[in-house]
Amino acid sequence: MFNSKIQVYSGTRATGRLHLGNYLGMVKGAIELQNKYSCVYSVVDLHAITTPYDKDRLEENTLNVVLDYLAAGLNPEKSLIEVQSLVPQHMELAYYLGTLYPVSRLEDLPTYKEKKAQFPKYVNMGLLYYPVLMAADVLLYKASLVPVGVDQEPHLEVMREIARNFNRQYGETFVQPQRFATKGEYVPSLTGEGKMSKTREGSFINLTDSLEEIKNKLAKVPTDNGGPGKFPTSGPVHNLFKLVELFEGKGEAEEYKHRYQVSGIRYQDVKKELAEAIFKELEPIQDKRRELEKDTDSVKQMLSEHSKKLRAIAQETVEEVKEKMGFINI
Ligand code: TRP
Repeated sequence: MFNSKIQVYSGTRATGRLHLGNYLGMVKGAIELQNKYSCVYSVVDLHAITTPYDKDRLEENTLNVVLDYLAAGLNPEKSLIEVQSLVPQHMELAYYLGTLYPVSRLEDLPTYKEKKAQFPKYVNMGLLYYPVLMAADVLLYKASLVPVGVDQEPHLEVMREIARNFNRQYGETFVQPQRFATKGEYVPSLTGEGKMSKTREGSFINLTDSLEEIKNKLAKVPTDNGGPGKFPTSGPVHNLFKLVELFEGKGEAEEYKHRYQVSGIRYQDVKKELAEAIFKELEPIQDKRRELEKDTDSVKQMLSEHSKKLRAIAQETVEEVKEKMGFINI
């Protein structure tokens, strides 16, 4: 499907293996879109260094996301796969765009405040700049659709505002990207608080987890006495049934909820069935991944070719932006 006019862009932070939140929130939507549009799917390693990270594992973590992308079904014949740091134009454009946005608004963003509270000793310029770099990621390719989770909406607002500000000051240049919502756009944490996230211990199931590991993780999800009674509207039990809905269907989740209210349920059965449903979806992905792991050299070769193409497209935007902003051109 690829032509040089890119329509879709999305990225995942390079924090190692993907979990179900990444898979349902982004990768599944990405796979759906690659059959209809020209897409770029990135591993955003420059974003990954804004919170504490291990330099000895950054490369491995980056490749692990790429392998999970490919195993899950992103097709390098259809989509361009990017490693963000291999296209330095992201940083250049981010700098230009940063001059169009007030610091005070960045300081007010919920994601910035959360990270600041989570890592008080790591409040760096990169963290504040995160949304500007993310805006540059998408605007660099003039993509209009962004498959990401609903938690990213504030960042997309910033992106659109930056695009509007640029167009107003320097002439019509950028489209205002929209979020492409997926079915699993919000995957809750197994702990019952917030969303499934790599930075929240015990909250996630990885795409590479075995049936045993999935069972063990689900076993740790705190439960109640199983009814009968009013079904909880938040907390771990509520989240557990959100996962049932995502992996076994809405009908099955409703059925359980009904039983909870009238006669009560046994969590042992619920968790066993859920673990099996999750593993059934992950098993073919894991088989494909094992194949890919045998030949990581060709994966790296693919990344090198794709990043070359991407740098060429990105450079066009950078040059257009520099010209419109009035820079010397020699
Ligand atoms: N902030 C996104 C997340 O945490 C990752 C990201 C960075 C991204 N740049 C992007 C997503 C550009 C979509 C488009 O999920």
